Amino acid sequence: MTKLWGGRFTKKTNPLVEQFTKSIHFDQKLAFCDCWGSMFHIDILKESKLISEQEYKKVHDALHEIAQSVQSGSLKVEESFEDIHSFIQHLVEKKAGDVALKLHTCRSRNDQVVFATKLFCQMQLKHFLILLTDLENVFLKLIKANESVHIPGYTHLQHAIPIRLSDGLMAYVEMLRQDFKRLTYIKDNINLTMGSGALAGTFIDSEHYDKAMSFVSAEIGIVKPSHNSIHTVSDRDFVIEILSALALVGMHLSRLSEDFILWSTKEFDFIDIDESFCTGSSLMPQKKNPDVLELIRGYTGKLYGNLMNVLVIMKGLPLSYNRDMQHDKEPLFDSLNIVENELKILTELIGHIHFKKENIAKQLTDEGLYATDLADYLVQKGVPFKDAHTTIGQLVHYKISSKKELKKMSAAELKKFHPLLTPMVVQKLIDPQHSVDSKKSIKRVVHKPLKSPSRK
Ligand code: ARG
Repeated sequence: MTKLWGGRFTKKTNPLVEQFTKSIHFDQKLAFCDCWGSMFHIDILKESKLISEQEYKKVHDALHEIAQSVQSGSLKVEESFEDIHSFIQHLVEKKAGDVALKLHTCRSRNDQVVFATKLFCQMQLKHFLILLTDLENVFLKLIKANESVHIPGYTHLQHAIPIRLSDGLMAYVEMLRQDFKRLTYIKDNINLTMGSGALAGTFIDSEHYDKAMSFVSAEIGIVKPSHNSIHTVSDRDFVIEILSALALVGMHLSRLSEDFILWSTKEFDFIDIDESFCTGSSLMPQKKNPDVLELIRGYTGKLYGNLMNVLVIMKGLPLSYNRDMQHDKEPLFDSLNIVENELKILTELIGHIHFKKENIAKQLTDEGLYATDLADYLVQKGVPFKDAHTTIGQLVHYKISSKKELKKMSAAELKKFHPLLTPMVVQKLIDPQHSVDSKKSIKRVVHKPLKSPSRK
């Protein structure tokens, strides 16, 4: 096992130190992006005549071969190496011979790590945008299939006012769209740079970087010479931004899960979650549990924890690179992995949700849901809102204490509360369709579905 350093040392590294400092067991996820980074780096070395055309070709071919084996899953990573960057350097030496000793010219892992991590994040975020559009799509299908359904709207988890089921579900689509925008912004803001060296830059002229990078940019998006090398090697804002955006996605998916868990209880019984997405009990034979949704709710703890983890790592770090930063990757990979799995499984699960329209309709017979509509009716006839609120509140109190339905009250009974209240008015207003139609302030827009990036 060769190290990328060692000349100044005469003693062997203590095995405990080897073990304690290594990151290859997790940073091997960066293998593909590291190869790309190295391929771009040798473009610069060639441009600045630090390696010949021939040397370039040998190293390039070796890197290309390694990248291909990463992609096909055939690369066997040797975990005795310190990190993935050291291991790939070793592989290039094995494949290309001595010319590979020039590969690390004008480069430091400090710059290499940040480049590979940024490229990895860009690729991952693009994938996440696709996953979000897939989830949005099943939501839109579910909405379409239940277009005419109304449900009780809740505040404080108590019956509030009837709403369209489609509006309730669209609230989650809105969240997904916010997530999509946030992740797009973060992705587009990741600035890929080269040339920071360890922290102070390198002796290669920035013009050579510019020239070489113009070829690179055509392949992966804009790459530029760093304009502040010290910041570049010590900046992990992009990691924190991603963790924060993923924490929000997780929070949204957790809230959605909570609604679906509630709706699937015997008490609500609004939805049926397909059996293939539920689990059973080892003791109680009748059970069909929404474990997937509970785990999504539970994962939020990890997602928030991962964000806190990196925020705390970065707090108070002096300029520039510090080894603490190696700890950014596990939380980053963990959050990406969690949210990816959540989006995939929810897309399938939601595609198998069935709304129990009859049970929902039963809940809509709760006359309390229409109290606001009754008050609004009086207001529209000129009664001050506060008086209307009190009047209908008293009517509701009478309904509860007398155990009478509003729809069955006589004209004389209703009149005691307000002369404008008649059985006909009550019959008309206690109706879910009338209730939702009477809400005119919402400017529903015909949403164009999210535009997913190309799936290539
Ligand atoms: N594996 C390390 C990381 O991810 C590599 C950087 C090591 N740099 C150094 N100057 N020791 O941060």
